[in-house]
Amino acid sequence: MSNECKVDCGRRRLVVSTAAVGGVGAVAALVPFVSSMLPSERAKAAGAPVEADISKLEPGQMMTVEWRGKPVWVIKRTPEQLESLKKTDSLVADPNSDRKAYPTPAYAKNEWRSIKPEIFVAVGICSHLGCSPSDKFQQGPQASLPDDWQGGFLCPCHGSTFDMAGRVFKNKPAPDNLEVPPHMYLSDAKILVGDDKKA
Ligand code: FES
Repeated sequence: MSNECKVDCGRRRLVVSTAAVGGVGAVAALVPFVSSMLPSERAKAAGAPVEADISKLEPGQMMTVEWRGKPVWVIKRTPEQLESLKKTDSLVADPNSDRKAYPTPAYAKNEWRSIKPEIFVAVGICSHLGCSPSDKFQQGPQASLPDDWQGGFLCPCHGSTFDMAGRVFKNKPAPDNLEVPPHMYLSDAKILVGDDKKA
């Protein structure tokens, strides 16, 4: 270490640690704000169900709503994407969603893992270590994916891949399919995520 650095770098360290303390102070200042959230916001954070308006969702598009602090994807699958599930059936680790770590609700325990075939609802968190996978709906060869890719999701953290029904492919680090959260239709255009009991 040069003499100049001994002096300057020490000073820089001091500035950095002061800034870090300032950061903690800033976070502490936010707490009163959080505790004064509206009751509905507090209820949402605690896990109250959330509504998703899917009226504008076009085939091939996805939207994300937040439930219990987690991203929940709603995807309107195209006929081609639904067809791809037949091709991936023999390539995925748990084709019928029999594993119990994230039990698939009975109404989604079918070949599409959904209530209506075209609308897929899943928690967008990898069952390995909790990263959020990226959508890779385009079929065919591309970076980090096999040449016969049928569309699905890629977790950038350790390379787990999932098909268009969130089923994890064989021999990947993720032990389970993407979780299908409890959900129900309030109307053709509205889904309630987080509750499947109120009719
Ligand atoms: S967190 Fe997704 S593969 Fe590790």
